[in-house]
Amino acid sequence: MIVATTRAELKAARDKLPGPVVLVPTMGALHDGHRALLRRAREIAGAAGTVAVSIFVNPLQFGPNEDLERYPRTLREDLETCAAEHVDLVFAPGVGEMYPRRQLVTVDPGAAGEILEGEFRPGFFQGVLTVVLKLFSLVRPDVAVFGQKDAQQLALVRQMVADFALGIEIEGVPTVRAADGLALSSRNKYLSSSERTVATVLHKALAVGGAAAGRGPRAVLDDARQVLAEEGGSLDVDYLALVSAGTYELVLSDDFSGPATLAIAARLGTTRLIDNVTIQVGTGRDAADD
Ligand code: PAF
Repeated sequence: MIVATTRAELKAARDKLPGPVVLVPTMGALHDGHRALLRRAREIAGAAGTVAVSIFVNPLQFGPNEDLERYPRTLREDLETCAAEHVDLVFAPGVGEMYPRRQLVTVDPGAAGEILEGEFRPGFFQGVLTVVLKLFSLVRPDVAVFGQKDAQQLALVRQMVADFALGIEIEGVPTVRAADGLALSSRNKYLSSSERTVATVLHKALAVGGAAAGRGPRAVLDDARQVLAEEGGSLDVDYLALVSAGTYELVLSDDFSGPATLAIAARLGTTRLIDNVTIQVGTGRDAADD
């Protein structure tokens, strides 16, 4: 496994990598959700192709009062995970390597980047898309793999790739969950054991909302809200919303039918968690897809 920490090392390695090159962009603190991305990347790359992973905690996507400083940094363990998953190349640059000067030109995520996460984390998607575009320029992948847990991020990356004609295939991988339904996340490390128990209510609300999909958007949101009201306890919900799966536009009409994402974000103490499920609304299918 090649570990590159500078652009020059990456460039020297990149020119020799056999295609297809499949990139998994991460911020490290790798867990089983990331392992699922790495395995999907290997399936796509095949035995002869290249799986590349980037590990970079991107300051541009953290707001002034967010957890940039305390975000888990576990490079040694992450490299072990990558080696165990037969990754070919890790790009783990420092901040000065990614941003040798102040980033003057950034990516505007457009309308879908202003709602939900974009509303509660101003500048977040601008930071995400800017670093993803930069990673794409440096690694030059044929395919890039992202988790569906960050569904809005995935939708915006797809929009960026289409709008800038980047010619990179984007692959979404279903969310990996703990046995009790909690979506795996590097931020779960922050949860106390009592918070960890309450955190399962996020998925329960999504599952109950998803089970109402056949009865339309209002039923989905009402049923999910009821779970939050009855069992949410110390959860401080930023949003619970239904968006159309493709465009990530808010579903505002109760006549909507089709694939949709039921998304939630909530704070538990000092930890902010997000989750979502993909559902078929109004088509008689009642179960959440993931
Ligand atoms: O999902 C993440 O871990 C990050 O937002 C990403 C895509 C690696 C960009 O920093």
